[in-house]
Amino acid sequence: MLMNIMEGASLPPRLNTLHCGDCIAGLKQLGDGLVDLAFADPPFNIGYDYDVYHDKLESENYLAWSRDWTAEVVRVLKPNGTFWLAIGDEYAAELKIMLQRDHGLTCRSWVVWYYTFGVNCKAKFSRSHAHLFHMIKDPKNYTFNTEAIRVPSARQLVYGDRRANPKGRLPDDTWILRPQDLPNGFEPDQDTWYFPRVCGTFKERAGWHGCQMPEQLLGRIIRASSHEGDVVLDPFAGSGTTLAVAKKLGREYLGYELSEEYSEQINRRLKKIRAGDALDGAPEPLVSVPTTAQGITLAQRQGNHSPAKPHRKAKKPASRTKTKGKADAEPRLPGF
Ligand SMILES: C[S@@+](CC[C@H](N)C(=O)[O-])C[C@H]1O[C@@H](n2cnc3c(N)ncnc32)[C@H](O)[C@@H]1O
Repeated sequence: MLMNIMEGASLPPRLNTLHCGDCIAGLKQLGDGLVDLAFADPPFNIGYDYDVYHDKLESENYLAWSRDWTAEVVRVLKPNGTFWLAIGDEYAAELKIMLQRDHGLTCRSWVVWYYTFGVNCKAKFSRSHAHLFHMIKDPKNYTFNTEAIRVPSARQLVYGDRRANPKGRLPDDTWILRPQDLPNGFEPDQDTWYFPRVCGTFKERAGWHGCQMPEQLLGRIIRASSHEGDVVLDPFAGSGTTLAVAKKLGREYLGYELSEEYSEQINRRLKKIRAGDALDGAPEPLVSVPTTAQGITLAQRQGNHSPAKPHRKAKKPASRTKTKGKADAEPRLPGF
């Protein structure tokens, strides 16, 4: 069932619901200070082909619209609440300053999420990262659950070092999640230069929403910045990843999505989920998939020990490259 936002109505917050409609209108119906954690991955204004939203506004209109929806998000946050914003290079600078100067938030971490999925930019380095701004209302009072997000350290994994904290270490502020989705690793023409361990197995997944974020990325954010039972808001639900992960992790959730088609799909996705379900994707991909050296080719598996062939380039889902409008519009990538 779709919950449609009624203009001008004053409703109590309906938790654990996806509201189909404009997030600004929906948020205006909420009182102040209800939400513990907001995660927003808005359209980046790069001409991406969404179902109903037109992603190519005049720059000043996009910024004015961003000011409106961010103001509503900040208003509905609790005094100790957290706001994570995912944004591309084009408007990262303006939105970061807007959140700090105009809305009074403090930036705790500027996380770079780097990824690749074969997007070629012809006259610049290929796009392979997005920004995740970790913003809080009160630097003296906010949730940051370090124990929930630790990862194994190099001391533990590589050096067998006795001094290693057996609980692992906090992740860096440059994140790589799900390298299984990076069949070609990081290539020399990209704007993030990194030499990861080469993984031996990769899993491809094509979704109905080209901007679907990985559950593991949202898992880290939700675990770090909220407790069980807290309210998690996503004003731009998209494929519903934030809401799905919030439900799996035992949080209350509240989402908005403009498109009826996406909203129906999100509701189908949420219906299949129970609190406590495992998140999709590997929790610690660099150690949960074998290295190339540990991997096995089909030929080896079948008893022919000829040298391993390079992995085939994965096919891009068509939805990720479809853009409306101007030819210079770049496709958004998995998760962005
Ligand atoms: C980048 S996608 C979000 C992807 C999401 N993070 C995920 O993991 O699937 C942005 C979404 O915002 C929706 N949208 C655009 N304008 C909106 C508005 N005013 N209110 C609610 N949703 C909106 C678009 O339809 C699109 O699905």
